[in-house]
Amino acid sequence: MLKAKYIWKNGELLEWDTVNTHVLTHSLHYGSSVFEGIRAYETSRGPAIFRAKEHFDRLHESAKLYHFEVPYSTTKLISSTKKLISENKLKSCYIRPLVFFGYNEMGIIPYKNPVETIIAAWEWGSYLGSEAIENGIRVKTSSITKIDNSMLPSQSKCSANYANSILAKQEVLSKGYHEALLLNKDGNVSEGPGENIFIIKDGVFKTPSPDQSLLNGITAQSVAQIARDLGFVVSYTTLTLEDVLTADEVFFTGTAAEITPIVELDDQAINDGTPGLTTKRIQDLYFNIVKGKKESYKDWLTYV
Ligand SMILES: Cc1ncc(COP(=O)(O)O)c(C=O)c1O
Repeated sequence: MLKAKYIWKNGELLEWDTVNTHVLTHSLHYGSSVFEGIRAYETSRGPAIFRAKEHFDRLHESAKLYHFEVPYSTTKLISSTKKLISENKLKSCYIRPLVFFGYNEMGIIPYKNPVETIIAAWEWGSYLGSEAIENGIRVKTSSITKIDNSMLPSQSKCSANYANSILAKQEVLSKGYHEALLLNKDGNVSEGPGENIFIIKDGVFKTPSPDQSLLNGITAQSVAQIARDLGFVVSYTTLTLEDVLTADEVFFTGTAAEITPIVELDDQAINDGTPGLTTKRIQDLYFNIVKGKKESYKDWLTYV
């Protein structure tokens, strides 16, 4: 990990190496924290945070679903992030806000513990590698079932939810694949460990609807908007593995993964086994938008 100079904690900028927490921090023991993953991209006008408001609003919603409140408003978190990026002199970065129950009492119920907030930002390239964005990835369906909405709210980016993602991802990495695909308890396609999935079939974009136990990703919402603006129909639906295997094109979306073509699932090529042309078109447009080159999408950017 490429260190930066400062991390923002509870309203202050602290030196990266000195920010710490007690080993009896509640969230270390029980996963009682919520987080975001956000990117800022280099533009001709300096760094711009992509969909900052949507990400920080979702941070508040994630906490609400676990019955607590983020102690800072979205406006304050955005201004603090801007300051952090500029003080760290970052041109582009990954931004990780985390709100967690700190140290006071031990036991499952965290509400007597202080709510602590940090924001870190550092230089981070492609999550699955630049090769992945260009040439696509090989995906394997995990034997680990996606935790159901009735068990843990999948609309919350709560750290506890990610134990499910860790298990699924490590299973397929150990078998030589790039990424996992998780099915929900009904056996339908849910999402990747940290990505949403889209298929394109006969010119129609299809993605599992939010009731399929998945995170309603901000990249996915952006891609759906871009596709509609280009005149495509986008359908939120139930997808089976067969739908994915017989699709014309398949790709993952996510802040970290950006738009990554899937060229193979469970050792079977998707179409001819190369990234699809429409996927490439959406990918190009997306990278132009995040880099501030598309005036009509400028509302999605917050300049630092
Ligand atoms: C489980 C999960 N699904 C989907 C996504 C994609 O969401 P977004 O596009 O908002 O980053 C993420 C990443 O945040 C995730 O962790």
